[in-house]
Amino acid sequence: MALPNYFQDPNTLHINTTPHHAYFIPHQSLETISSREQSPYFTLLNGDWDFNYYESYHDLPEDFLNTAFEHKIPVPSNWQNHGFDHHHYTNINYPFPFDPPFVPHQNPCGLYHRTFQFESNGKRYLLNFEGVDSCLFFYVNRQFVGYSQVSHSTSEFDVTDFLTQGTNHLHVVVLKWCDGSYLEDQDKFRMSGIFRDVYLLEREQNYLQDFFVRYELSEDLSEATLSLDLQFIAENRPLKVELISPENVSVFCKQAVNFCEKITNVQLWNVENPQLYTLILRTENEVIVQKIGFRKAEVKDGVFYFNNQPIKFKGVNRHDSDPKTGYAISYAQALKDLQLMKQHNINAIRTAHYPNAPWFTELCDRYGFYVIAESDVESHGASMLAVKTPEPSIFLNHENDLETARIRQETIDNFCYFARDPAFKKAILDRQQANVERDKNRTSVIIWSLGNESGYGENFEAAAAWIKQRDPSRLVHYESSIYQHSEYQNDLSNLDFYSEMYGSTEDIDCYCETLKTKPFILCEYSHAMGNSNGDMEDYWQTFHRHPQSCGGFIWEWCDHAPYRENRQFGYGGDFGETPHDGNFCMDGLVSPDRIPHSNLKEVKNVNRPVRARFEDGKIVLHNYLDFTNLADILTVNYEFVQNGITTSGGFLEVDCEPHQSVVLPISLPENNGSHWLLNLSYTQNWDTELLEMEHELGFDQINLYPQNSLKKQLLVVTQTAFSVNETALTVEIHNEDYRYLFDKQKGIFSQIEKAGEPLIEQPLDFQFWRAPTDNDRLIRAAWQNAGYDNAYMRAYETVVNVSEQAVEIRVTSAIVSISRGRILTLDLVYTILADGQFSVKINAQRPAHLPFLPRFGLRFALSKNIGVAEYFGYGELESYIDKHHLAKLGVYRTTAEQNHTDYVKPQENGSHFGCEYVKFDRLYATADQPFSFNLSPYTAEELTAKIHCYDLVKSPYMIFNIDYKMSGIGSNSCGPNLKDEYRLNETEFEVEFQFILG
Ligand code: GAL
Ligand code: MG
Repeated sequence: MALPNYFQDPNTLHINTTPHHAYFIPHQSLETISSREQSPYFTLLNGDWDFNYYESYHDLPEDFLNTAFEHKIPVPSNWQNHGFDHHHYTNINYPFPFDPPFVPHQNPCGLYHRTFQFESNGKRYLLNFEGVDSCLFFYVNRQFVGYSQVSHSTSEFDVTDFLTQGTNHLHVVVLKWCDGSYLEDQDKFRMSGIFRDVYLLEREQNYLQDFFVRYELSEDLSEATLSLDLQFIAENRPLKVELISPENVSVFCKQAVNFCEKITNVQLWNVENPQLYTLILRTENEVIVQKIGFRKAEVKDGVFYFNNQPIKFKGVNRHDSDPKTGYAISYAQALKDLQLMKQHNINAIRTAHYPNAPWFTELCDRYGFYVIAESDVESHGASMLAVKTPEPSIFLNHENDLETARIRQETIDNFCYFARDPAFKKAILDRQQANVERDKNRTSVIIWSLGNESGYGENFEAAAAWIKQRDPSRLVHYESSIYQHSEYQNDLSNLDFYSEMYGSTEDIDCYCETLKTKPFILCEYSHAMGNSNGDMEDYWQTFHRHPQSCGGFIWEWCDHAPYRENRQFGYGGDFGETPHDGNFCMDGLVSPDRIPHSNLKEVKNVNRPVRARFEDGKIVLHNYLDFTNLADILTVNYEFVQNGITTSGGFLEVDCEPHQSVVLPISLPENNGSHWLLNLSYTQNWDTELLEMEHELGFDQINLYPQNSLKKQLLVVTQTAFSVNETALTVEIHNEDYRYLFDKQKGIFSQIEKAGEPLIEQPLDFQFWRAPTDNDRLIRAAWQNAGYDNAYMRAYETVVNVSEQAVEIRVTSAIVSISRGRILTLDLVYTILADGQFSVKINAQRPAHLPFLPRFGLRFALSKNIGVAEYFGYGELESYIDKHHLAKLGVYRTTAEQNHTDYVKPQENGSHFGCEYVKFDRLYATADQPFSFNLSPYTAEELTAKIHCYDLVKSPYMIFNIDYKMSGIGSNSCGPNLKDEYRLNETEFEVEFQFILG
C-alpha cells in the first residue's frame, strides 16, 4: 500500500490540522472546570483500540481501511510495550542511515481503529491527538482527514464534515519513522504509537481558537496592565472576561473584544508561593478558564532576575518516561514526579527535550516550578558523520592538539546540518511554534528553549527571532548556540543566556569572571548516572559565588528503562538492538519506578532552603529562599548529641527575611572533652498540597569540637602470655584465646582466630580496586591499563621483634601487577599486643605516573554470622568524600544486606565516609584518622563482573573494607574529571588501622 510521501517531505508537516494554539478545554459552566473529563464538550477517546502491526508500511494492505484487526492496544501507549516491534535505546546515533529526508523502507507501521457513537449538536468538532510518534495519517469514516507529525505536539483536525450520526470509524496509520525523526534524535528509548490522549472537542461555530494573555508589570511589580489577544476562527467577537483573585474575589468583569485592564496590589506568583488568579472567558455557550500568575523574568547586566530578585534554578531535566507505560504519562504519574521534586527541594524543570503533555505545565503553574519549555528538536546524530568517528565526549574535550581540534570542528560542522539546511527551516520553526503557541499562557514557563543538541545556524536564528517577536515577555535559551559552523558567523542576539552542559566549576568561574554579558546557565550538569552527583556541593558553592550564574538543571530526573520479563529493568542492548548505548539511559535521580537514589538525597540537602554555619561561637542561619520569610515556612529543630547520645534539644520559629542571616538563640555546650554535635533539622511548618507539615526540608550538622574523638584508644595492655613460632614462610602468634597466622610471602595475616573460632574466612587483603562506578567509566581504562584489576601482594623482608607486651612484624612489601610493575610499595608494621589487639601501620608509596587509586584499605572476609555492624560516621545512606551532604555523622547499625545499594548496573556502593569506628560483636575496627568503610554481601570483583544487579551472586562471606580513603564519586560519566582533592592521588601516605578482637 503506498501512502502519500508526506513523511519523507520536510515541507509537508501538517495537512488539515488547525493552527498551533494555546491548550485549553471549553466548559459549559464553571461547575465542571476541575477536570476536562467533566466538560460536556470533551469526549475522551482513549481505551482499547483495534490494532494491526506491520514491520513495514509497505505491508499495509491495499484496502487497509476495511481490513480486519488481529489485536487490541491501549490508547495511549507505545506499541513496543505491548509486544510489537522491540525496544531500542540509542543516545546520539540515529537508529537508521543518515539520508535525510528519507527513512528506511523497513519502516514499522501501526494501524489503529476504533468506533464511537456521535450525535451532532450542530456545532464544530475537533479531534485532538496530543502526541503520536512519529507521524499519523488520519481517516474518519474511511475518508482521509489529514496528516501530521512532530511527536510531542498536539495535532487537531476539524472533523465536523466527516462525522455522521451514530457509529463513526476512526482509522489512524502511524509510522515509526518520518523525516521528523531526524529532528527527534533525543537520548531515549525509541518508542512509537499514539502515546498521549485522544479526544473530541465540541466547539461553537465561530469558536475561540486561541488567546494570549499578556501583561506589563510596573517597576515595583505592584501593578499589572493586562491585555488579551483573541483569535476566533471567523470574526472576532466580544467576550465576557472576568478576573478572580487568588482569594476568590472578583477583580473585574468586562465585555470586550480588545481590552486592557489595570490591576493594582498584584499578588505575585513564584515557586515558593504560586499565587494564581483565575481568568474566565465566556461566550454564549462556552466558559474557558485560564489560571494566570503575575511574574517577571528578565536579564539585567548579565544577571537573571525573577520578580526583581536574583534567583537560582535548582533544576532537573525531565523526560516523560515510565518502565511500564513508556512515553504515556498519566496525571497521577506526573503529579508523583512533582511531589517528589518538591520533597527534594527542586524548583525548576527543563522539559527535556520536547514539550510534555499539555496539562503538565498547568501542574507546574499550580504547584510552583520554574519551567524551561523546550521544543521538540534534537538532531544530535548528525554530529556522528565525521570522517573519523568522534568520541562522543569530543565536546567536553579540552585538548587542543591540531588533530583533536580538526575532528572537533568537523564534528561541529556536521552537527549544524539541520540548523543550516534550508529544507528543514520550516520544520524547525514549526516545532518552535507548536511549543510556544501551546504553552504561551503558562505562568511557570519563563524560558523557551529552541531544542537540544542540534548545532546552530540560520534556522535557529530564525527560530529565536520568531519567538522574540511573538512573545517578548519570555527569555530564550539554546545551549547548542555555542557550536559554530566553520563557515558561518552566528547571530546570538536573540538568546538571553549563555548556556552550557556539563561545564566544570572552573568553567563557571572563568565565564563569570571574564565574559559576564549574559547569565550563565548549566542546562545539564551533575550527570546522575549510577552512584553519582558527587559534585553537587561544589557546584552550589560556585553558583552562589557568582551573581551571573543562575544555577542549573541536573541531568536527569529519572532513569529510563522498560521492564523486561520478571519486572526487571532492561537498558540498551537488553533487547537485542543495535546500535545501542548500554546503560546511558540509567542516569536519573530516581529509579525508573521513582524510588529516590542516594543521588537525590544529596541533591536535596545541598538544595536545602536554609543553611547553618558556626561562626564566632554562634550558630548563624542563612535563608536561601528568594521570597519567603523562614518563619512562614519552617521550624528549626535542634538537638545536642554528646558522644553519640542525644542530650537535649528543642525547636524554634525563626524570623528571617529572604537572602538574610540571623543568629540562632541557642546556647552551646562547653567543651568538656566530649564529642559534641549539634543537629539542626528544618521541617515544613504547615501543610501544602504537596508537602505535609513536618516534612524535613533539609538539615545541618555542626561538629562543635572536631578535635574530640569518640573512638577507643588501643593502648591498655592486659598482661597475657603468648607464644611466637616463626618458620620460613609463616609467623604464628597464639595463646589459649587467639591465634594469628602471618604469611611471610604476602606480608599479611592469612588466619586470625579468637576463642577457637576463625575471625576471617579468607586471608586478609590490601584492597585498592573498587567496582567501577558509572562515573569511573573513563578512568577505568587507565586503572585497568595500569593493572589495578590484576595485582597481588608480595613481601620482600619480614622482621619479627618479640617483647613481653607485643609482637612487632616489620615488613617491606609491595602490590605488584601482572604484566606491569609495582603499584604500591608498602612499609608495614604489624603490632599484636599481648591481649590480642592488633594494629597495622602502613606507609605506602605510589609511582607518580600511575593513575589515582580507586581506594586503599584492608579487606576482611567475615563470617556471615558476625552480626550487625555499629559505626560512627556518615550514615545511614552511602557517603563519600564528595557526597556526604545527604548523611549525618552519628551512630548507626547496619548489616551487609541493608548496606548494599542495588544499582541496576552493579558498581561501588554503600561506603561510609568520615568514620571513627566500626564495631561487630567480634571485631572493633578503627584508625588513626577518620576512614571510609564498606560492608557488602558482594565482592568488588563480583560487582565489577556483572552488568545487571539481578545476576549478582553473593559471597559466602560478609565483605568488610576499612579504607584509608575511598576516591570520590564526581559525575564524570558525562561531566568533568573528578576533582584532585577527591582522588586518592597521594604518591605517599600513612595510616594506622587498629583492631580489637571481641
Ligand atoms: C546530553 C544530552 C542529554 C543526554 C546526556 C547524557 O548531551 O543533552 O539528552 O544525552 O547528554 O546522558
Ligand atoms: Mg543528545
